[in-house]
Amino acid sequence: MQAIKVRAEAGSDFNAIDVVNLSAFQGEAEAQLVGELRRSPGFIPDLSLVAELNGRIVGHVVLSRVALRAQGKSRDVLALGPMSVVPSQSHRGIGTELIDAAVARARPLCYEAIVVAGHPEYYQRFGFKPAANWGVSCNLELPDDALLAMELVDGGLAGGGVVEYPDIFRALF
Ligand SMILES: CC(C)(COP(=O)(O)OP(=O)(O)OC[C@H]1O[C@@H](n2cnc3c(N)ncnc32)[C@H](O)[C@@H]1OP(=O)(O)O)[C@@H](O)C(=O)NCCC(=O)NCCS
Repeated sequence: MQAIKVRAEAGSDFNAIDVVNLSAFQGEAEAQLVGELRRSPGFIPDLSLVAELNGRIVGHVVLSRVALRAQGKSRDVLALGPMSVVPSQSHRGIGTELIDAAVARARPLCYEAIVVAGHPEYYQRFGFKPAANWGVSCNLELPDDALLAMELVDGGLAGGGVVEYPDIFRALF
């Protein structure tokens, strides 16, 4: 397979990212969420990444800032998603490259943890574990095992808490 290039999105990529999301998911909710995330306070341009193959965008992942609240205090962590790879290029490691790149770029930004609401079997291979292991839950209606988390620094999730996804995520969950 040709080399995959993972880079931060540019304004000129927005339409192509829409196409990736529309092709990977059933319906428009994820594509709309990505657009809404770009206009939201939690958006971090350097953590909205595209995978390029032969100059064509074939995958996308976004990490955005969300609040983790515990015992009356709040701190920022990162929420991964939506994430998508075009069906014609799936099962070739592109999703893996996107997640590895996203985690690598998140570390120097000094966030303490990443959470993700999604397929447990898929994300556990990257080191995500059930968020419940740290006493972390969230404000979305998810199956118990569908919230996963990864500490970026030791103790990053100590004390647990509730991840407060912004309302724009409710269209998905
Ligand atoms: C999930 C997704 C991003 C994976 O991208 P990818 O480039 O195919 O991922 P990789 O090639 O790195 O890894 C593929 C492996 O992931 C696993 N996998 C893929 N989709 C999965 C799913 N829905 N549930 C669990 N595991 C899954 C499989 O074990 C697969 O292994 P295989 O190729 O041996 O069958 C892509 O399939 C996709 O866009 N799916 C539709 C949208 C979606 O579900 N996004 C994630 C929301 S949580």
